[in-house]
Amino acid sequence: MTEPAHLAAVRESYDTVATDYLRLVVPPEGMDPVSRAMLAAFAELVRESGGGEVADLGCGPGRVTAYLSTLGLSAFGVDVSGEMVALARRAYPQLRFLRGSMAALDLPDGALGGILAWYSVHHTPADRLPQLFAEFARVLAPGGHLLLGGHAGEAQLLRPARAYGHPVSYASHLVPAGRLVELVEEAGFTVMARLEQPNPQRGDRSYVCVLASAAGGG
Ligand SMILES: C[S@@+](CC[C@H](N)C(=O)[O-])C[C@H]1O[C@@H](n2cnc3c(N)ncnc32)[C@H](O)[C@@H]1O
Repeated sequence: MTEPAHLAAVRESYDTVATDYLRLVVPPEGMDPVSRAMLAAFAELVRESGGGEVADLGCGPGRVTAYLSTLGLSAFGVDVSGEMVALARRAYPQLRFLRGSMAALDLPDGALGGILAWYSVHHTPADRLPQLFAEFARVLAPGGHLLLGGHAGEAQLLRPARAYGHPVSYASHLVPAGRLVELVEEAGFTVMARLEQPNPQRGDRSYVCVLASAAGGG
């Protein structure tokens, strides 16, 4: 299948910035306590619902995937950037990292107990989010859990010329937190919690987490 142009730009850009992304971005252990609490709540819910495999979609260098495994989850990562996957495999040889698109997962229906998409869905154009969340719903087992974490704000397309010290060609597609919640619900999920934190650097944006469960749990 032909790679969509937006995804090629994401792949090329993250291949370019991978090493500096790892150097510049704070690891999960250094995140704010509220974000870590959301990851911990997600992990507890997945464990309580019987566990199962958890996919970290858009896993980057794999640090959050590894953090999920310290929380007792059987986690693996998926990323479109070969450089990111290579960094992740080097750092965490005991974990599985796959190269691929989160919009077309090479997984059977109902294969997963959980999905984490941490600061990765904003690179998907807003008009493709219904298909993306439908794919998440397809691969989650009944009663499985989804945690989205990322940027939210007034609907707009951002095209940064540089990121992490390098030229990049990807776009970021902001949607309001409330719209993100609606899209998750429209894909058949039940939203359990929504957390919004101000972005201290950018008054027009916030950090948002959406925790949801797939239909059909006991
Ligand atoms: C900002 S980084 C976040 C990485 C990681 N989740 C973390 O928190 O460290 C975004 C990552 O999502 C990946 N990504 C974005 N869109 C993707 C897609 N459609 N399929 C697979 N990976 C994607 C990028 O390649 C990049 O590694």
